[in-house]
Amino acid sequence: MHSSPTTPAPYSTFPGTEGLSTFNAGLSAASPNAFDGRNILLTGATGLIGGELLKAIIERYNPNAIYTLARGRHNATPESRVVTRLAHCTKSIPESLQVIEGELTTANCGLNPQVYKTICDTTEVILHCAADTSFLDGAGVLEANIESVRNILEMAKQCAKMPLFVYVSTAANVGQVQSRTICESDDAETEHHNEYTQSKGMAEALVRASGLPYLILRPSIVLSAGITDQTFAKSILWCAPLFTLFNALPMNADSRIDVIPVSYVTDSIIELLNQPSLEHDCYYISAGAHNCTLAGEVVRLVKEFYAIDCPKALVHPDKWTGADYKQYVKNSDQRKAFFALRYYFPFINMDVAYSNERLKQQLKDRMPALPPLSSYLAPLLQQIPVSLSLAEAARP
Ligand SMILES: NC(=O)c1ccc[n+]([C@@H]2O[C@H](COP(=O)([O-])OP(=O)(O)OC[C@H]3O[C@@H](n4cnc5c(N)ncnc54)[C@H](OP(=O)(O)O)[C@@H]3O)[C@@H](O)[C@H]2O)c1
Repeated sequence: MHSSPTTPAPYSTFPGTEGLSTFNAGLSAASPNAFDGRNILLTGATGLIGGELLKAIIERYNPNAIYTLARGRHNATPESRVVTRLAHCTKSIPESLQVIEGELTTANCGLNPQVYKTICDTTEVILHCAADTSFLDGAGVLEANIESVRNILEMAKQCAKMPLFVYVSTAANVGQVQSRTICESDDAETEHHNEYTQSKGMAEALVRASGLPYLILRPSIVLSAGITDQTFAKSILWCAPLFTLFNALPMNADSRIDVIPVSYVTDSIIELLNQPSLEHDCYYISAGAHNCTLAGEVVRLVKEFYAIDCPKALVHPDKWTGADYKQYVKNSDQRKAFFALRYYFPFINMDVAYSNERLKQQLKDRMPALPPLSSYLAPLLQQIPVSLSLAEAARP
């Protein structure tokens, strides 16, 4: 399906079959990998995936330049935010790192003409990790994520060296599917659980229509395993401590949840980019059909961590009734928590795995190891007291 760069349309199919055999072939004259000696533009460096990817690149490689586009916040400059994000980097921050203040939703990504020109003259690879990841509808997420991709694609098109555009999308952009293992070539649904996943699908359509060489990577649910940072820990897991407030919840204990640690994502991205050629232009980065965690197991681990036998029962959502709600959701904390959990129940109960067969076939013995959730959940829950979860649940 073709969609014009000015009018993104919801896509209905994932082409996903064209290879990228020319990417590293074109670059390999200068370097045996995708990073040493390269000029790289990375967005989202203050975030979970972008920050870990930047850290991994700095620790393992010596790019010629890494431009990171970042925003200031309150009194913190973009530079200090990126430096703080790199706090636990095992290597000192290299001269090649250039933090550039930018706002992706504005024209020219908010860059001054001179900086814009420098980036366009030199950039060879764009790693676009930035996105508004809020699940709240009506907060401008759809518009912001589409506009951001449109602006950075426009910049990529001005680049002298026709950069590879690596778009970190999301597996959940498949929309409202139920009880399936999804492959990259499967059709997406037109209905979505929220504007965020819809925006990622629509932005993918823009990337595909751009005429640039691109690589679309779709992580499943990414947890900040191994990182001590409350903001990242709570960003997805804030809902977990709330489970313990209830005697029963509308959850399918057998529903598969495709959850992965962030290091698995960054290692997969690096390994894919280091391949001499790629079979496909789109890959799930996921636990896959055989390594998903069941919802019942997640609840068991949460109960074990808090040493509390709540929830005692998981009621299949098809069987959850108004009477159950009245029985189990009584006090104000429970009402507040249940209201917030409603955003997450569709994802918890969708029973979907994203196949990682394509990734395995591509990476073979370079496929990163996937640790089980039980090996990294407790240190993350440690960072999220129930009071914080309740405060998070009360946010609009
Ligand atoms: N985490 C997951 O479970 C998951 C799963 C699948 C896919 N993904 C995808 O992976 C990518 C990274 O996700 P994440 O979890 O790392 O998200 P995150 O922690 O929320 O970080 C988002 C990053 O994007 C930046 N950003 C957002 N809007 C921007 C704008 N308009 N201009 C400039 N920068 C902007 C943020 O900057 P500020 O710090 O200034 O806000 C931050 O650096 C996203 O594309 C997301 O869709 C994430």
